[in-house]
Amino acid sequence: TITRREDYREPDWRVPEIALDFDLDPAATRVRATLQVERNGVHDRPLVLDGDALVPVSVLVDGVEATGWSMDGPNLVIPLTGSAHRIDTEVVIAPERNTQLQGLYASQGMLCTQCEAEGFRRITFFPDRPDVLSRYKVRMTADKARFPVLLANGDPIAQGEGADGRHWAEWHDPFPKPSYLFALVAGDLVANRGSFTTLSGRTVELGIWVRSPDLAKTDHALHALKLSMAWDEQVYGREYDLDVFNIVAVDDFNFGAMENKGLNVFNSRYILADPDTATDYDYDAIAAVVAHEYFHNWSGNRVTCRDWFQLSLKEGFTVFRDQSFSADQGSAAVKRIEDVRGLRASQFPEDSGPLAHPVRPDEYIEISNFYTATIYNKGAEVIRMIHTILGPDKFRAGTDLYFQRFDGTAATCEDFVASMEEASGADLSQFRRWYTQAGTPRVSATLTQEGGRARLSLRQSVPPTPGQPVKEPMVLPLKIKLFGSFTGRAMCDEQLMLFKDDAAEMVFENLSETPVLSINRGFSAPIIVETNRTAADLAFLSAHDDDPFARYEAMQQLMLDTLVASVASGSADHQPVIDAVRNTLTDGALDPAFIAEAVLLPSDSFIGDQMAVVDPEAIFRARESLRRDLGMALNAEWRAAYDAVRANRFEYSPTGKGARRIKTVALGYIAASGAADAAALAYAQFEGADNMTDRQGALTTLASGTSPLREQAIEAFYQRYAGNGLVLDKWFQTQALSSRDDTAQRVEALAQHRDFTLANPNRARALIGAFAVNQRAFHDISGRGYRFVADQLIALDRLNPQTAAKLIPPLGRWKRFDAARAARMRAELERIVATPGLSKDMFEQATKSLD
Ligand code: ARG
Ligand code: ZN
Repeated sequence: TITRREDYREPDWRVPEIALDFDLDPAATRVRATLQVERNGVHDRPLVLDGDALVPVSVLVDGVEATGWSMDGPNLVIPLTGSAHRIDTEVVIAPERNTQLQGLYASQGMLCTQCEAEGFRRITFFPDRPDVLSRYKVRMTADKARFPVLLANGDPIAQGEGADGRHWAEWHDPFPKPSYLFALVAGDLVANRGSFTTLSGRTVELGIWVRSPDLAKTDHALHALKLSMAWDEQVYGREYDLDVFNIVAVDDFNFGAMENKGLNVFNSRYILADPDTATDYDYDAIAAVVAHEYFHNWSGNRVTCRDWFQLSLKEGFTVFRDQSFSADQGSAAVKRIEDVRGLRASQFPEDSGPLAHPVRPDEYIEISNFYTATIYNKGAEVIRMIHTILGPDKFRAGTDLYFQRFDGTAATCEDFVASMEEASGADLSQFRRWYTQAGTPRVSATLTQEGGRARLSLRQSVPPTPGQPVKEPMVLPLKIKLFGSFTGRAMCDEQLMLFKDDAAEMVFENLSETPVLSINRGFSAPIIVETNRTAADLAFLSAHDDDPFARYEAMQQLMLDTLVASVASGSADHQPVIDAVRNTLTDGALDPAFIAEAVLLPSDSFIGDQMAVVDPEAIFRARESLRRDLGMALNAEWRAAYDAVRANRFEYSPTGKGARRIKTVALGYIAASGAADAAALAYAQFEGADNMTDRQGALTTLASGTSPLREQAIEAFYQRYAGNGLVLDKWFQTQALSSRDDTAQRVEALAQHRDFTLANPNRARALIGAFAVNQRAFHDISGRGYRFVADQLIALDRLNPQTAAKLIPPLGRWKRFDAARAARMRAELERIVATPGLSKDMFEQATKSLD
């Protein structure tokens, strides 16, 4: 069944108070719920409580055993006569058999919950929708030896001993919240404790809870939490509001983390770090996710969503907030490059494929399928554009108004935009199309010159997407600047142009030299820009633009143009790229982390995204050929860059990170050159590394090569980290991403490895998810990659539909491939759709992908 945004109706019944009593046991947990319900408005509809696989043991109305109730499918229907009643229900659930990891489940001996979006109904009967806000009281009783720590939302109120070795604890959350923010955790856990004093002088006790062997890996997360709390006060004026803030790390988790009020639950990969097991990328991701979940306390919890169509209200805004936080902690330029690369790798393909949807969707079958790059990352770009259009001060006035007006309520995207308009005086009416129209806008920008005058002609179009054949023009904030091609000097200040029509023109007068166009600087709009710039123009900008993002972008475009030409005609002139890379690599004024980003070639799949029909082998060959030429032509430069940082000891600092980044990039080019000593160099880095960034970087380089040292490194890595699940994920992933021609066979074998399991989502994603985005291996013309992934997804769907359905999109890209591949991909999707007992998660993703 399809849920539609336009069908929204206020809830029939409100539930201002709920008391929950859990008798916790992995095999059989008894859940007693007491709801104070109030009729909302004048109607005679019964109380309908959502349930999912629950069987009522008892139902009481106002303390009396009820008889009139019935089941409507999974839901409990209770006819009521008055305007307010007390409802008591009791159910028994089995967390240890919950392989979906939604609701209450067991992970590594602990019990924990995940309720967003609709998991609370797997715990107890309740109106499980985000606009029903309740005050929660929670009591938990459990075996004290197995579950010495009992945590829930809010503040701890009381605890005590029970009979038979059991104990109990009570927690109260004073802030009304929707059911998706409910959480409890029971387990044998230890905490890394800290405290934070808020702006107004309130002391908050912080705890990062893990199993005791992991305690030493929690300092980075705790530090990031304190930085996040301070940042939200300084930048948004948002203070924390409870006496405690707890984070729990769990190994089995469907996504990154969850912002439950006062009790965030995290995938352990976004908490645990030490130099030997976590890469710099992991450290950064931990800080970003800790910040993200913390920031949800205001953008998500204090102001929540009216319905799930408004999901980007909290997610897009919160991603924008966490991106801004990360930018403030280190290099803003490198952070922007990383975020844009991520957007292009995940959101652009989504926006041009069968699963394209607006930032505020109109309908869904399964809401879990809408936790997408469009809702999160394009949603963040939409907020960023508002920030760009309004400027920081008016934007802040807008968020202040939004938080003040909607605190304690369930709001809409429209409420947010209206607050922005009211506080700033801006008119965002046409801008709202960013919420309703799917598809990545395309702009063509042509700069022509006649004497001292230049004319910039712009045209925009938004491509058709499923259900939206015709599009209206969007508001595109374009940051533009011109540089003199002779002197390299800026010829004007940066202009912010709001491009709102199908076409527009901008004229520049009194030019004394030939201008070069710098456009969409900082990636001011999340669009695709085509320009009439030559290879020489792009090389020039890659050396002279004063916006680091624009410099990076010019280099990427130059590389992309070269690679696309090479795929089309079998070869291309590599010299302009070689010269531009040399220029950047040897520019002593540049941040090494920036250099490392700028000199990386676009990925196979991003090259494929530029082409009408993706030819994975031709793309791979063109990219390898350019890599080899870069490696050989700049051999001395790569070696110099490598040797300059080779002996560095590990230090977690921007300088240390930059050095490690350039180190492995240089190693990769040395290997690409075919140098005889490359594998030995990589192996020496692998063995001698005092940190995971260097070790995994070397392993990645070896894994795509043919040296016998490859197998040696893979085996040594496995032995060294046996028993460390998060590092074994890297081991599986690195092999699944290998560009070797036997990767498909090897991945099939790895799926039989004793450490492989579909029951752990991180492990499933590390092998299956990584393989499915390895363009060359997955799209092997034999079709074995497609068959393998489909087999795995069918098996995974029986355990964990949410995680399985997230891995469908690579198969759904069939339209972008040749007829032979497309037919094989479709055949696998059809096989999935025909599977008996398929989840609605998979059904929605696979059927939409076939259309
Ligand atoms: N709200 C969480 C976060 O972004 C993610 C929840 C994902 N839920 C889902 N059903 N996919 O921080
Ligand atoms: Zn979020």
